[in-house]
Amino acid sequence: MKGVILAGGLGSRLLPMTKVTNKHLLPVYDKPMIFYPIQCLVNAGLTDIMLVTGGNFAGDFLQLLGNGKDFGLKELHYTYQEGGNAGIADALRLAEDFAEGEKVVVVLGDNIIENNIQRAVAEYSQQGEGAKVMLKEVPDPQRFGVPEIEGDRIINIEEKPQAPKSNYAVIGIYMYDSMVFDFIKAQKPSDRGELEITDVNNSYIKNGGLKYEVLQGWWTDAGTIESLYRATQLVAKTGANNM
Ligand code: DAU
Repeated sequence: MKGVILAGGLGSRLLPMTKVTNKHLLPVYDKPMIFYPIQCLVNAGLTDIMLVTGGNFAGDFLQLLGNGKDFGLKELHYTYQEGGNAGIADALRLAEDFAEGEKVVVVLGDNIIENNIQRAVAEYSQQGEGAKVMLKEVPDPQRFGVPEIEGDRIINIEEKPQAPKSNYAVIGIYMYDSMVFDFIKAQKPSDRGELEITDVNNSYIKNGGLKYEVLQGWWTDAGTIESLYRATQLVAKTGANNM
């Protein structure tokens, strides 16, 4: 299995900081934001990792991370998403050759978690075909992809719904088999002009099988002023990824 970190996008919700740097290079407590998703994958046992980035400051990732020596990696793979904000699924599409038909664990570059997901990842590697998403109960589901759950199955996911069908967010840690790249190729941009990861997950519900697990410990994104502040407070209090 391979790891993919998506750190493209324009970070427009963090202006004016993102005028002069990439969102994922901003500090969360004592480290740049991008350190957390890398450590998340490494702690889960994934050492073959690709970072997808974009925008005007992509070169700064090389300077900061190099070949990933600080994380015990032999090398780190990079690719570049043209065109800024074409969407999370568009960024993931760029990892197809890197994946070489293996399963992938995808982490959004602005997602941070308290615990180690090693067990969830190990279980997914035994799962056979299909995908797996992680859920977390949140007070503000309108901000996220929200699952509609029936029994032990997700029957649909809505992106940023006004009337959420549950109090859960689909967090930015996704586990996919090689079908994911076919689903992305068949996709059309949403109303906001992006290839949506929620559409990918709905394709799995219809055609590939989507399992879920509720994450233990805290989770936050860090892509808005409020959530960046919250992320810093959470990391300061407990650390992240069992670091
Ligand atoms: O944080 C979890 C949420 O992330 C999910 O619940 C949503 O379903 C999912 O759509 C996403 O929502 P956001 O609107 O918060 O995503 P955002 O545009 O902030 O992008 C999250 C990360 O994805 C960002 O830090 C970098 C990467 N990304 C995003 C875009 C739009 C890219 O690599 N390329 C892109 O074009």
